[in-house]
Amino acid sequence: VMTTLGIIGAMQVEVDLLLKAMDRKYGKTIAGSVFYEGTLEGIPVVVVQCGVGKVNAAICAQILCDCYHVTHLVNTGIAGSLCADLDIGDLVISTDAMYHDFDCVNFGYPMGKVPGMDVISFPADKTMIDYAFAAAETVNPGHTKKGRIASGDQFVAEKALKDKIIANTQGLCTEMEGAAIAQTAYRNQVPFVILRAISDKADNSASMDYPTFERIAAHRCAEVTRNLARQLKAAE
Ligand code: ADE
Repeated sequence: VMTTLGIIGAMQVEVDLLLKAMDRKYGKTIAGSVFYEGTLEGIPVVVVQCGVGKVNAAICAQILCDCYHVTHLVNTGIAGSLCADLDIGDLVISTDAMYHDFDCVNFGYPMGKVPGMDVISFPADKTMIDYAFAAAETVNPGHTKKGRIASGDQFVAEKALKDKIIANTQGLCTEMEGAAIAQTAYRNQVPFVILRAISDKADNSASMDYPTFERIAAHRCAEVTRNLARQLKAAE
């Protein structure tokens, strides 16, 4: 089967950069999101900006599986750091992703566990992790970590909530889509990886000028994604 890479990007700037780098673009709106088909670094890709949160993310991931038959999925965007040595601008490559806000504890399940699923965290694909890590190290040398992504429908900006998420998930960073895309990929048996640039410390601390940061993060995410596409092409 030929590779088709589904790319779910969070930022408009990032999606625009990927579109600029793509050939033979064709956009189609499904469920309110524009899905752009084309080729990136010689491989067929479908790029979509899914919107914020788990439901938006899962809808777009399932559409990529059903309507575009993607063989691989990548999710990129920004995240809050849960780890003292992950600074603003650093990159995280997922080993796995879990929910920090899926709470069936009073129903006998551990925090984060989705009843009926056989795993508490959804494992990323080993080959895609290796490619994404190598790509991230090329774009931002010495500033990339591999680890768990903690997702939930909350923008985390409070120390107490941050500490609770760390205790419950042991995640390296928190964001709002990764685990939903991971769960969708898991159920469809599609290999995936999540790549995030740290935008803030997920607490009350002041952060760098957001528009400036977003531009840097979007460029980094787009560059790493292009590099990852190149490696998938080389492996064909
Ligand atoms: N995305 C970027 N920073 C975040 C945070 N602190 N919480 C949730 N999602 C984020």
